[in-house]
Amino acid sequence: MGARYEDVVSIGPQALAGRFLRRFWQPVALTQSLKPKRPLPIRILGEDFTLYRGETGAVHLVAPQCPHRGLSLSVGRVIGDSIECFYHGWTFAADGHCAAQPAEDAQFKKGVCIATYPVHETLGLIFAYLGEGEPPDFPVLNVFEQGRIENRASYRPWPFFAQIENSVDETHFNFVHRRTKFDDIGMNKEMPVLTSEKTAYGMRRMAQRGASVREGHFFMPNWSLSSKYEHDEGWSDHVVWRVPVEDDAHISFTCEIFYQNENERAAFTKAKEAKRTKRRSMPAAIDLMKEIIAGRMHIDDLPADHPDIVLIQDGVACLAQPFRKDRTTEYLGASDRQVVMVRRLWNAELKALDEGRTLTAWHVPRDLKTSRGI
Ligand code: FES
Ligand SMILES: [Fe+2]
Repeated sequence: MGARYEDVVSIGPQALAGRFLRRFWQPVALTQSLKPKRPLPIRILGEDFTLYRGETGAVHLVAPQCPHRGLSLSVGRVIGDSIECFYHGWTFAADGHCAAQPAEDAQFKKGVCIATYPVHETLGLIFAYLGEGEPPDFPVLNVFEQGRIENRASYRPWPFFAQIENSVDETHFNFVHRRTKFDDIGMNKEMPVLTSEKTAYGMRRMAQRGASVREGHFFMPNWSLSSKYEHDEGWSDHVVWRVPVEDDAHISFTCEIFYQNENERAAFTKAKEAKRTKRRSMPAAIDLMKEIIAGRMHIDDLPADHPDIVLIQDGVACLAQPFRKDRTTEYLGASDRQVVMVRRLWNAELKALDEGRTLTAWHVPRDLKTSRGI
């Protein structure tokens, strides 16, 4: 590892990368995973929290533990928009102040409170702001309103930055994703010529194959918009946030935007169901990745029609790298230019943060689009 600000893997509250990520809205859960009055323990950015939905439907993100004797608040009860500790009933209002301590004198609760964090629920996701001061404006893209959104949260036991680099590394399709859906559309064949452009939001990236250009966008610090192809589902737009859970694990929170009509949608739902059934009879993707990394299996031993083949291939590419890389020993070429740009954008911000300088105010234009490039 070189300078301190080159450490993009350490994401705890004291680490530079962790402090930087906390300056942005980050998804912490799927809307559908949070039922009213059923609090959840949440682990994100190396910290624990309690997430709950009040009886009004409003979402609250608060401290993990009760200040009395440390019980996890996630096993407590939701009353209105407050949370009551399961152990002795201390009750915390939505703003965090202690509103009741049934077994104590009325005076005792004075000044007792728990931490609370701003939340914003949209696009089927719950976002939180875990940093200091006021949160930035929430970025909005027109594509969010132009199609039907489906959400996923996928836990991946490798660093979020390895996943970001993999996603902006267009040449890996030609090697990592052999024998996949990308064969259908010819994305595997020709070596792409890559260009990248620094923008007000991060990086616009282009990959040219023949006469067509595939265009996508990387948004600082950890999300992106790109086009995606599936065998039976066709094309969609794919907006994904790579949110660290620990230094060596992250969750990819996805908003997939589909533009099909009703008939196409019915066929697509059927294909998805078939995939789900198939997946149930197969070993879990993560177990297969581990077998491959341990040398007990080879990636090409997997059937090409495995429902998670692309995920497993990407997982192997990320897990087979050292967890904390010494980047000074890498040989970076023209095909790495987009990876290099993302690293430079990050390094500049972490350096500024380290030196106490003002950080870049990123701006996401609403009208950004993708192009498929085939
Ligand atoms: S530990 Fe929460 S009220 Fe006692
Ligand atoms: Fe990939």
